[in-house]
Amino acid sequence: MMKQWRLISLVSLLALLLGGCGKAFQSTLIPQGEVAKMQYDLLLLSSAIMVFVVLIVTAIFIYVIVKFRQKKGQEHVIPRQVEGNHKLEIIWTVIPILLLLVLAVPTVTYTFKLADVKPAQKQQLDKDTVVIDVTARLYWWEFAYKNEKVVTSQDLIIPTGKKIYLNLKGADIKHSFWVPSLAGKTDTNPENTNTMWLQADKAGTYNGFCAELCGPSHALMQFKVKAVNESEYKDWVAAMKKQDGKQPAASAQAQEGQQIFQKSCIGCHAVDANDARPPAARVAPNLANFGDRDMVAGVLEHTDKNLKAWLKDPESVKPGNLMSEKYGNLTDEQIDALTAYLSGLKVKK
Ligand code: CUA
Repeated sequence: MMKQWRLISLVSLLALLLGGCGKAFQSTLIPQGEVAKMQYDLLLLSSAIMVFVVLIVTAIFIYVIVKFRQKKGQEHVIPRQVEGNHKLEIIWTVIPILLLLVLAVPTVTYTFKLADVKPAQKQQLDKDTVVIDVTARLYWWEFAYKNEKVVTSQDLIIPTGKKIYLNLKGADIKHSFWVPSLAGKTDTNPENTNTMWLQADKAGTYNGFCAELCGPSHALMQFKVKAVNESEYKDWVAAMKKQDGKQPAASAQAQEGQQIFQKSCIGCHAVDANDARPPAARVAPNLANFGDRDMVAGVLEHTDKNLKAWLKDPESVKPGNLMSEKYGNLTDEQIDALTAYLSGLKVKK
């Protein structure tokens, strides 16, 4: 019975997952920005060329099989043997060259366009260039805005209609940054910084994933990209700058949670969005705007119940995560207080 139940839940989970594949918020095939569009166009072009070649070759193959098959009464007839045909050889050399050219010209052009991150590499960044240092860690994502000087995690807030430049790095092992509907994958390596840019045409929330097998919770290493219009983005940055984590929490219970947080959690986490410590010191997610996020631990819907479940037993939610080991047992009362505190960490009105 148990086995059956597992199978049913697995199948329904798969259905749900695959159902999500065709949605604008997480499909490579429904591009939502310039980068994704260029990559999608290349995908279509190369697929079209492949299909064209396969069709032609198949047609010739079938024609030859039919035309030169052994016929009744001619079992011992050997057909005329042809060797070398200039016309044919020229044709089947020139056609592939042409096809490769058709493929190469846009591919090379787009490759240079996609790799162009010059505005992000100026010594002195222009005031409105958005450059974000992305750090991947087991199993979460940090986003540090270079110009704006704010740090957040798990939800990458970006303005729409604008190139967003990313410097990608892995803090521990290799991960890979992937937002299917906005841009292809780029590895985040500990030994070097990879760069890319992306752009979202429309406001919305786009799903992001780790695309490099990195451990038991690899599939749970998810994040969100939230595109908002330019003025909303500016408001968000301004609100983040004010969020230094020092304000007293709203309710008595939340204040109790704040005390617990300041005593225990602060060793790894931070609630100051202006966190200026070096990235290596930021070993756990910055929670300055935790209350605004869609998810708890990147994978659970953001409800008090789920937050409590995560605080009670992180290992059961995200196996192998680093919080599990460092984490003492909290009483239910402490968990309730922490939940009240964390949920109140908001910058959005
Ligand atoms: Cu990180 Cu997979």
